[in-house]
Amino acid sequence: MSEKSSLYPELIRAIKPATGTLGVLLPGLGAVATTLIAGVHLINKGLAQPHGSLTQMQRMRLGKRTNPRFALIKEVVPLTNLNDLVFGGWDIFPENAYQIACHAGVLSRELLDQVKDQLESVRPWPAVFEQAYVRRLSGPHLKAGPTKKHLADMLIEDIEAFRRREGVQRVVMVWCGSTEVFMQPSPVHETIEAFEAGLKANAPEISPCMIYTYAAISAGVPFANGSPNLAVDIPALVEYAHKRHVPIAGKDFKTGQTFLKTVVAPGLKAKMLGLTGWFSTNILGNRDGEVLDDQGSFRTKEVSKSSVLGAILQPELYPDLYGKVFHKVRIEYYPPRGDAKEGWDNIDIFGWLGQPMQIKINFLCRDSILAAPVALDLALFLDLAQRAGLSGIQEWLSFYFKSPMARVDLQPEHDLFIQHLKLTNTLRILVGEEVLDHSGLDYYESGDAYRAGMGGA
Ligand SMILES: NC(=O)c1ccc[n+]([C@@H]2O[C@H](COP(=O)([O-])OP(=O)(O)OC[C@H]3O[C@@H](n4cnc5c(N)ncnc54)[C@H](O)[C@@H]3O)[C@@H](O)[C@H]2O)c1
Repeated sequence: MSEKSSLYPELIRAIKPATGTLGVLLPGLGAVATTLIAGVHLINKGLAQPHGSLTQMQRMRLGKRTNPRFALIKEVVPLTNLNDLVFGGWDIFPENAYQIACHAGVLSRELLDQVKDQLESVRPWPAVFEQAYVRRLSGPHLKAGPTKKHLADMLIEDIEAFRRREGVQRVVMVWCGSTEVFMQPSPVHETIEAFEAGLKANAPEISPCMIYTYAAISAGVPFANGSPNLAVDIPALVEYAHKRHVPIAGKDFKTGQTFLKTVVAPGLKAKMLGLTGWFSTNILGNRDGEVLDDQGSFRTKEVSKSSVLGAILQPELYPDLYGKVFHKVRIEYYPPRGDAKEGWDNIDIFGWLGQPMQIKINFLCRDSILAAPVALDLALFLDLAQRAGLSGIQEWLSFYFKSPMARVDLQPEHDLFIQHLKLTNTLRILVGEEVLDHSGLDYYESGDAYRAGMGGA
């Protein structure tokens, strides 16, 4: 504790220690999942650094600026050590994580070969999958059962068998599977009773991603959705997570173009610069790109990517500046680029007296390199949340998502800087540290503080 006590003493948590091993279950052992697994083993062997991971590298200020401590996040809250992670997962293809990672081509063979044994030991379990939900994919490694309830029970059995076999103390699940076709919330998603009846009746409104989410919550396993699929955000599963005291978070990893959008848009708004149009286009050539080449899956991604600007710019409060924004998002499947995505943004803005200006951004990013540390942080923070006794929507993890979840009566927060403050202040609150508001006025308007700064009494 710092010398100044928390503003929220009632929210301080007795966090259980991160003893023993943590199972990280990944439905969808594709490019992101295998880049995460390979990365953790390379880091554990001292062959690489966890760049891009807040849980591993970021320091946060504790206490006053006159007497600051810049502690690593993992020193402020008890997080599971990377050496204590054990991975498992499901996929519609039976290849092991080494074979998949070689095929994905994100990391070089030279790097992958240094953790070949660890990667080969991760062999996916048969998946719950239906091609109707991901039209561009079909695979042989599938579960079969008469109803979706039977399939959910099989996933729960996989989780329990993994617990027993690996002797892990705790388990979290991060969906790294493909983007499914666009779905609207419907009555079967409203309550957990309707959802469970739908599982038994094979309701078409229940997608494979929802079945994994249901299985995770049933098994007491915190769940994060890295895709834009409608799943953990339906009322039935939010209610179920509350009932079962399970932390959940979603959705759609915020990594490349949308990450930059949530950096630039708050800047324009902070300076009261107007916006007439924002055109974003991408080329990418990995399997994710192939899946998104189908209009059904693209629509799911498009909706997720498009929600960002309106929420940040608040056109209802600033109609003169943001009342007529033309926002367009395109994703083009272009195989030669593989995982090395290229994004272009053209931003038409206006300033003083309505005079027009333009901003161009050309981001040559690498999708899975940006997504892997996000998936890692989510796994570790969700485990922390569970040990801290938190459950339901973890809004403080909005930082990591394109479409952050929020309570139904609250607007989600998209501004990256507010999201970051939300995350770090939540950690401060949990351990009873002073919340930072960054006003700084107390250093100047309190006479004692001013004299102390001038070397006075
Ligand atoms: N890479 C990024 O920057 C990024 C950013 C935001 C979101 N995402 C999302 O993360 C997910 C993973 O991305 P990726 O690049 O690793 O894609 P990928 O295509 O390489 O991997 C997805 C894997 O999921 C498997 N799969 C599909 N449906 C499944 C099911 N029902 N059960 C089990 N496995 C299933 C596929 O066979 C594939 O191996 C996608 O939904 C993508 O949209 C990625």
